Amino acid sequence: KPRVLSGIQPTADSFHLGNYLGALRQWVALQDSHDAFYMVVDMHAITVEHDPKALRRRTRVSAAQLLALGIDPERSTLFVQSHVPEHAQLNWVMECLTGFGEASRMTQFKDKSAKQAVDRVTVGLFTYPVLQAADILLYRAHSVPVGEDQRQHLELTRDLAQRFNTRFGRTLVVPEAHIVKHTAKVYDLQDPTSKMSKSASSPAGIVDLLDDPKVSAKKIRSAVTDTGREVVYDPENKAGVSNLLVIYSALADRPVADLEREYEGRGYGDLKKDLAEVLTGFVTPVQARVREYLNDPAELDKVLARGAERAREVAARTLRAVYDRVGFLPPM
Ligand code: TYM
Repeated sequence: KPRVLSGIQPTADSFHLGNYLGALRQWVALQDSHDAFYMVVDMHAITVEHDPKALRRRTRVSAAQLLALGIDPERSTLFVQSHVPEHAQLNWVMECLTGFGEASRMTQFKDKSAKQAVDRVTVGLFTYPVLQAADILLYRAHSVPVGEDQRQHLELTRDLAQRFNTRFGRTLVVPEAHIVKHTAKVYDLQDPTSKMSKSASSPAGIVDLLDDPKVSAKKIRSAVTDTGREVVYDPENKAGVSNLLVIYSALADRPVADLEREYEGRGYGDLKKDLAEVLTGFVTPVQARVREYLNDPAELDKVLARGAERAREVAARTLRAVYDRVGFLPPM
């Protein structure tokens, strides 16, 4: 079976619809056809200032959400990044292959650092994409399901893998980004020209999976739409309505064209009301399962420990090969 790997940061108390539709839904689907490795990337989460207690809580809540959304720990390897020390070890080798200029061109770093004083921006935030490359290359992943905002990091990962192989001999698998067309970028409900984002969106612009469905329904009702009436998919001129249509289509598993037909001659109000219902139907059982997993943290931690053990077997093998290729003397 080909291998798939992906990660998500535990930087909020809930994942949002962008995370789910852009990435996590594909994680769940790919479990059938792939040998899957999915992780909560807590090491990436400390690249910005954080609260240790919140990080611990969010790491568990993240794992519980992944399980609740359908990641099956029997079929997939589900783990926490910091439990596998090989990530930090391969990261160092990858940093020594990455050009300073190359790292400087990462747009996510430029965006995230632009608003801050230079000494508040950490070196960890700067080298973040290199750690991400190490995450992927450690598992020799063929495919990496992510949203559009990760495309450049995947390009860097491919470049680093190729560079390593050219310089030291074929060792690493060059991965492909798995980015689905329609939901690769879910937009902010209040500002439908920018992506829904944990760090940049206002609370009203984000639909969190663990929010009270009544709160989410209200956010959907107040989503920004244009002054027209027609429910048509036209991202150029009707960004807000198009975003709602994409979300609706994905959650209800119905083509956008179907929805356009259904809402012909009806207004945005009907669309929003029905979408809120579809969303409620989706999140209600997910939330119940998350509560169950969180009620038994010891069992949750056991699942993560088993995952880490499986992940380490694969990671250690790759790291050993890499260390040997770069000329590190094996310890006696
Ligand atoms: P993170 O934690 O920011 O987001 C997790 C996943 O959600 C996707 N996503 C979106 N997709 C569509 N529309 C949106 N509005 C939206 N917002 C977020 C992201 O693209 C991502 O797939 N660097 C990664 C974490 C990471 C990783 C990895 C991913 C670390 N190591 C190795 C893959 C492989 C990140 O910050 O994702």
